[in-house]
Amino acid sequence: HMQVIRSPQEMQALALSWRARGDMIVLVPTMGYFHRGHVSLMEYGRGIGRRLVVSLFVNPTQFAPNEDLDCYPRNFDQDCKLAQEAGVDVIFAPEADQLYPPDFQTYVTVEQVTRGLCGASRPIHFRGVATIVLKLFNLVQPQAAIFGEKDYQQLITLKRMALDLNLPVEIIGRPLVREPDGLAMSSRNVYLSPGERRSALNLSRALFKACELTAKGETSRDRLFAALKPILTCDPQINLDYLNLVDPQTLKEIDTIRGQARLAIAAWVGRTRLIDNILLEVP
Ligand code: PAJ
Repeated sequence: HMQVIRSPQEMQALALSWRARGDMIVLVPTMGYFHRGHVSLMEYGRGIGRRLVVSLFVNPTQFAPNEDLDCYPRNFDQDCKLAQEAGVDVIFAPEADQLYPPDFQTYVTVEQVTRGLCGASRPIHFRGVATIVLKLFNLVQPQAAIFGEKDYQQLITLKRMALDLNLPVEIIGRPLVREPDGLAMSSRNVYLSPGERRSALNLSRALFKACELTAKGETSRDRLFAALKPILTCDPQINLDYLNLVDPQTLKEIDTIRGQARLAIAAWVGRTRLIDNILLEVP
């Protein structure tokens, strides 16, 4: 039977008691409104640890004032049902004022890897993510934490934080889960109108095209981007934020693929900002 815990103190006390007995704790941090992407992380977590905790917290410090914090989609009852079915032991769903007391002033900044890609247009975002994730680690005491490759820069940022700060937590990345037509699953897809939903498909279409071309031996960023341009500019509903070819570990931009690269994209479709990425491999 799944337990819902609201109190950070209660969560930490329970986690410490589990650890004292030698139980392995696995954490899946989320902001709720679960889809198959979230569920895939829970199912993987269920398979590797004795205690599976899913945190559900829409973290205010990773949203800028002009972003969608206040209308971020929520459905707590449905989330509990999906988590229970996935074998989750505890949903940890604290209130914001419990995690951020008045006068809160301590943040974690991961420097280089947060500068490009989404960090360029969301300058405070990854500081908020790193800070809340470290707080969750301290409350839940996990030996492993699971993140999706959907948010690839977030995954690399958290791996960097764990390494740099000697955290006793293994950061595990899991594959991006897509809708049958290719759209990357996201809680924010609910914002899309049917027309916008069709336009949004061009993002994954462009990534798949790049995958096809690199599999056939294309290594040049410029030639790849030239081939993708028509897919991304043919639709006036799409407003590209970035299309970047980066080294999979350092996230530094590259102009020639040697072995592997990540192709990452962010775009506005109407008022919704979507991200997607794919692994490119040259044979
Ligand atoms: P959220 O967007 O709810 O995502 C929770 C986890 O689910 C993240 O690790 C994310 O990468 C993963 N995820 C989302 N869509 C996915 C998909 N289509 N396939 C696979 N995994 C997917 O990411 C956050 O919350 C927050 O930034 C958080 C880490 C919880 C910190 O607040």
